[in-house]
Amino acid sequence: MTPFIAPSILAADFANIQAEVEMLNASVADYIHVDIMDGVFVPNISFGIPVMEAISKHAKKLLDVHLMIVNPDQYLEAFRKAGAEIISVHYEACTHLHRTVQAIHHLGAKAGVAINPHTPVDLLQEIIADIDLVCVMSVNPGFGGQKFIENTYSKVEKLKELILKKGSSAKIEIDGGVNLSNAPKLITAGADILVAGSFVFNSPDPIATINGLKGI
Ligand code: DX5
Ligand code: ZN
Repeated sequence: MTPFIAPSILAADFANIQAEVEMLNASVADYIHVDIMDGVFVPNISFGIPVMEAISKHAKKLLDVHLMIVNPDQYLEAFRKAGAEIISVHYEACTHLHRTVQAIHHLGAKAGVAINPHTPVDLLQEIIADIDLVCVMSVNPGFGGQKFIENTYSKVEKLKELILKKGSSAKIEIDGGVNLSNAPKLITAGADILVAGSFVFNSPDPIATINGLKGI
């Protein structure tokens, strides 16, 4: 299966954001992954809605927005207006996850649920049929450039089973430490979408690196 590739703009040069987005436009990437961190849910702050709007202004790829924030409900509309096509919220940050998923759909976006490395996939049993994507964190959220957690493969296999059992059409996205060494095994385990930040942007030729990931 050919994976969808979602380069994470977090690893880009923010002083040249237009050029970085145009590079991604010219690549075979499917989405641009946009990491929003609030310094509360995760121990880091990335950027907010004005920067998201700047990315959106130049992007020709769909924006896949990963909200690593508390109270995501409060900001869903603003991110949708800023161009988000997929909005993922964290399982661990949502008390009324079903309501949040409904709100994302009501805004006309696709709804994703992200799970931290310690969160079992079984907890998605009652929501999996209602969502479009599960973002499986393969690092602890908060920073780019971390080491891939090996336990992710078995989580992806279990998640794939759950999706099939429940007749869900949810896609499996892997986020964190993805590179050419772990990508083939992730695809075999059932991954549909690969997020890659530092592996793409720190490489000498990001376009070729995206081609490499896509060609698996
Ligand atoms: C981590 C973010 C990831 C990150 C991926 O909190 O959600 O999307 O940007 O970056 P790499 O590929 O460098 O691990
Ligand atoms: Zn992310």
